[in-house]
Amino acid sequence: MRTRNPYPTDFHDYINTEEGWVDRRIFWEEEIYQQELEKIFARSWHFIAHDSQLPNHGDFITTYMGEDGVVASRHSDGLVYVYLNSCPHRGNKICFADEGNTRSFNCNYHGWSFSTQGELLGIHNEQTYDKGDIDKSSWGLRNARVENYKGLIFANFDHDAPDLESWLGDYRWFLDMLIDNEEGGIEFLPGTIKSYVNANWKFGVENFIGDALHAMWNHDSGAKAMMNNQPFPPAVLEDSFHASMNGHGWEFALDGYADIAILGQPEVIEYYQQLKPKMAERLGELRSKIFGSLASAAVFPNISFLAGSGTFRVWLPRGPRKLELRIWTIVNKHMPDEIKQAINRGTMLTFAPGGTLEMDDGENWEGNTTTNRGFITRQEKLHYGCGISRRIEHEEIPGIVYQGQYNDANQRAFYQRWADMMNAENWNDIPERYTPRYTGKPTR
Ligand code: FES
Ligand SMILES: [Fe+2]
Repeated sequence: MRTRNPYPTDFHDYINTEEGWVDRRIFWEEEIYQQELEKIFARSWHFIAHDSQLPNHGDFITTYMGEDGVVASRHSDGLVYVYLNSCPHRGNKICFADEGNTRSFNCNYHGWSFSTQGELLGIHNEQTYDKGDIDKSSWGLRNARVENYKGLIFANFDHDAPDLESWLGDYRWFLDMLIDNEEGGIEFLPGTIKSYVNANWKFGVENFIGDALHAMWNHDSGAKAMMNNQPFPPAVLEDSFHASMNGHGWEFALDGYADIAILGQPEVIEYYQQLKPKMAERLGELRSKIFGSLASAAVFPNISFLAGSGTFRVWLPRGPRKLELRIWTIVNKHMPDEIKQAINRGTMLTFAPGGTLEMDDGENWEGNTTTNRGFITRQEKLHYGCGISRRIEHEEIPGIVYQGQYNDANQRAFYQRWADMMNAENWNDIPERYTPRYTGKPTR
């Protein structure tokens, strides 16, 4: 008779990077999810916004760090502050809007008001409080640490966490391809698209961190529709790789154009054809070839993007069986307007909720998650063994590198980082799985 597998207390027992499997219960169980909120999300650096989304004093957006709602706003000192979107009086949201511009936030319930730095400014009918009832300076909103990498604003509630540069580590070598491939950097086009998928948040991330394998099967017809009946390029193992560090990953070929071509906008390909020699001067030959290739990438725990296709997204957890996907289109700031618009059209046709490729993926992740409703089903393991013996050292590519983008290496590393953080009581408990090459140095 089948019996229930005991729940391990060591989270490394939910994954096995040598045998290549993952325990399905991490995609389903509420108790595990609650620990993720504490051990992963309350300690990680979260993408909050790009500088271009908050250009002026008073500009704000609301988002989530795990399930903690936060407001990010640009204060009159020019800095961005990130603080809890929950009033310290009785807990209501202080801001219900997605984004906007304001001088202050006024809570609906009893009229406490807060600055764009999160301080408690005033209280409606303040005379009802006797002297000594409240010290306003200690009842502001809880602020997170805020750091910025080349325009990407990140926040973290954990004051013991390493700084953002150490958190990203050598992943900056990859990130620079996305955000610093041309003078002027990038900007986020206006508009955030939200959608909900009945799937565990990790399925979205692991797909982008390493799953090239599904593309030419699952997206075959969508890709042909976008590329004038051309399929994805064939799987080439010699000239493609998985690379990861600190749970972040990028899988890629070196064809230079497949992810750009998927947009179905020939003028964007032409633009990059002209830019590539300059990109090679800026980032080196290798990175100019990686950019735009058949590739996908993610920053631990829940940020993903495609360099060349212009989609940028976060997978916000909404319980163990639901995620909120927020997407934006990113473009290079100095691109001509018509190229920016062509990229936006392309991302909306492919990687938006009504896009040809997004719909394929979401349906699969819902299936991956909801089958675990079955008691017997979720006692089974999932296979993550592809390419397990293809680890290599590469002179130029930093990180834990595997040969061949048809591989589960980045996914294994993602779940290893997941287990490392789930087990750790403090930051010293988290093992270094890779020695970075670029500590303290710029990667460009
Ligand atoms: S809950 Fe915000 S003022 Fe009372
Ligand atoms: Fe996909």
